[in-house]
Amino acid sequence: MGKRAALAKKLFIKTYGCQMNVYDSARMADVLAPLGYGPVDSPRGADMVILNTCHIREKAAEKVYSELGRLTPLQQDKAARGERMVIAVAGCVAQAEGEEILRRAPQVDLVFGPQTYHRLPELVARVLAAGPGEGILDTEFPVISKFDLLPEEAASQGPAVYLSVQEGCDKFCTFCVVPYTRGAEFSRPAAQVVAEAERRVAAGAREITLLGQNVNAYHGAGPDGADWSLGRLITRLAEIDGLERLRYTTSHPSDMDDELIRAHATVDKLMPYLHLPVQSGSDRVLASMNRRHRADDYRKVVDRLRAVRSDLALSSDFIVGFPGESDRDFADTLRLVTDVGFAQAYSFKYSPRPGTPAALMEQVPEGVKVERLAMLQFLLGEQQAAFNQATLGRVLPVLFERKGRRNGQLVGRSPYMQAVHATAPERLLGRIVDLRIDDRHPNSLAGTVVTEELVGVVPAAGPAKPARVSA
Ligand code: SAH
Ligand code: SF4
Ligand code: F3S
Repeated sequence: MGKRAALAKKLFIKTYGCQMNVYDSARMADVLAPLGYGPVDSPRGADMVILNTCHIREKAAEKVYSELGRLTPLQQDKAARGERMVIAVAGCVAQAEGEEILRRAPQVDLVFGPQTYHRLPELVARVLAAGPGEGILDTEFPVISKFDLLPEEAASQGPAVYLSVQEGCDKFCTFCVVPYTRGAEFSRPAAQVVAEAERRVAAGAREITLLGQNVNAYHGAGPDGADWSLGRLITRLAEIDGLERLRYTTSHPSDMDDELIRAHATVDKLMPYLHLPVQSGSDRVLASMNRRHRADDYRKVVDRLRAVRSDLALSSDFIVGFPGESDRDFADTLRLVTDVGFAQAYSFKYSPRPGTPAALMEQVPEGVKVERLAMLQFLLGEQQAAFNQATLGRVLPVLFERKGRRNGQLVGRSPYMQAVHATAPERLLGRIVDLRIDDRHPNSLAGTVVTEELVGVVPAAGPAKPARVSA
């Protein structure tokens, strides 16, 4: 961070939405660093503010306008001192309603989409030359992938990092804006991904989560000329010395191919936790959503995965109140949840999105959606609590990622993505340490380091040395 802290201009990025946006925000900072912009934690006094936005549900999209309202006085304060705060809107709202943003929010200087942020140096130069009030828009889908043009990532972002390998979506589920905001499916070449992963590990990463809107549809060009599947890519990445853990998200059930399922059996570094959205347990609703699979196909994929990795913990996404969803359809969803058993899950009320087919279908009343969401969340909450309860008393390897809120505390993740905190010396940051899980809170677990006396004699983490500390 040392080099960045010295950068003269203050850059504040606020990120909404999915992990892909988290990755993009970090890369925007990389693009802006050579221009003298260094990250700060507050928009107050910032020279540039970027809102990296999400369009997935109505509420997510509305947040942009309220945040812009809060930024206006800060921009005016800055102007009163004869300085300028450039306000930019990026991400999926920018892509979907760029022109409307410029119309509704005159304080916005720049709007750019998820595929154009490599052009930021040129865009910022134009904004600075144009002066306040001239909104500039760049939401074209470029011909050359941004990944071929982005600079190398900046220094370490901690022990657990994201790496985008696939973007966009060709599936067109009838509720979803992603194919419109992110564009067509695109996979980065395997060698480019491997090189980025190696640099991240050299900079201190121990865990990499491969990202994509449909990450398991990955089919990047391999160095051997053949297209590589995600399973193949994971197998190759697992060979990187010093990389301890691999994850991937988000997957589509119909893209879980044999090679990927096999990777869950053969690649030890691939963590036994999978986010596999199903959306609904009703075949009728799944068909109307254009999900391209039935509820039983999902059950079968889960069975195949658990057959090769019996401790696999599953997470999912659900939508309740999709147009036409009857009580019976909803009961099918509850049944699927009961059959599968989830360690964790996200559930949402259906939110009609402009330009998507489902927005034009007959809607389910709000009261029904609220009721169904409460029922589903109750069931999922019980399953999550039971899953966490079952880890009490067990010893789990936890990768310490950051300091906890309390003095002397570190926080990390178990293989199953559970947040675990423990009293532990700071030198264990970035290490995988065996913890006995001894308590359970609503959103985290508490553990105790079981190998304290060994911890001191294990060599310091380095790219070529496994960072694992075990009993
Ligand atoms: N690519 C992933 C998910 C992308 S969006 C997949 O195919 O599963 C993340 C989640 O947001 C979705 O899984 C879905 O549950 C939810 N979502 C998407 N559009 C929505 C909408 N219009 N209303 C409510 N939830 C939605
Ligand atoms: Fe959206 Fe469906 Fe594509 Fe997922 S697969 S991003 S839900 S259109
Ligand atoms: Fe949101 Fe765009 Fe991600 S709509 S969920 S930020 S792909």
